[in-house]
Amino acid sequence: MERLDTIEELAAHHGCGLVPTMGALHQGHCSLIEAMRRESDDVVVSVFVNPTQFNDPADLDRYPRTLEADLAAAEAAGATAVFTPPADTIYPLDRETWQPPLPRVATAPKLEDACRPGHFAGVCKVVARLFDLARPSLAVFGEKDWQQMLVLEAMVAEHPDRWGALQLRRGATIREPDGLALSSRNALLSPEHRERALGLSRALAVADDGEAAMRAVLDDHGLETEYAVIRDATTLEATQVDRPVRALIAAGLEGIRLIDNDAC
Ligand code: PAF
Repeated sequence: MERLDTIEELAAHHGCGLVPTMGALHQGHCSLIEAMRRESDDVVVSVFVNPTQFNDPADLDRYPRTLEADLAAAEAAGATAVFTPPADTIYPLDRETWQPPLPRVATAPKLEDACRPGHFAGVCKVVARLFDLARPSLAVFGEKDWQQMLVLEAMVAEHPDRWGALQLRRGATIREPDGLALSSRNALLSPEHRERALGLSRALAVADDGEAAMRAVLDDHGLETEYAVIRDATTLEATQVDRPVRALIAAGLEGIRLIDNDAC
């Protein structure tokens, strides 16, 4: 597996399958790499902790950084290269990086968009830059970040001149046997907090009984609910008859923010 630090080195991989990450790779990321590898002989994993998508500086400071382990995990999962750009490669100091316009699903639902102002602007900016540098033919995003995945799908769909040849894939959420969705932030949980974090998947399990039922489960686990809602699965706005719905939760404990979602 190659390690790429420069735009020139990355250029040799144009047309690759791209797996954008912020590192701290876990089995969820590995399943995305494996899925890309089934479709492409050249799979590039980008590892870049993107400062522009963190609305809370403390969250950015404590975000896990585990590069050596990430390189080993990416290689074991079948990556052909890992792109680890310095910050000024992604955000050149001598000019502004393009800010893609935000699609409606990044502003209307009042979910992650409302709880993390500026977050999707940062996500779209960095992913647009990665797409423009790597020029992938395929890229994959995890369903665990359901709203992010929809935002990026809409961003690509709204720019056919730029990314008309790029196909996006969805990667299913990977869970621990007890239901906890894998997340890089799980590494920050103490054993007691990890037990309480199970409230998210348990709340999703009662989503058919409505939002109040989900909230009750989150309360029982001592979680601070930011939202626990049932929405149209594609627009993330109000549900409509005969259209798929999705239950989505964001909740915190001791300053650690967790999200999860499922069909219902
Ligand atoms: O989901 C993530 O890890 C990040 O938001 C992404 C898509 C890699 C952009 O920094």
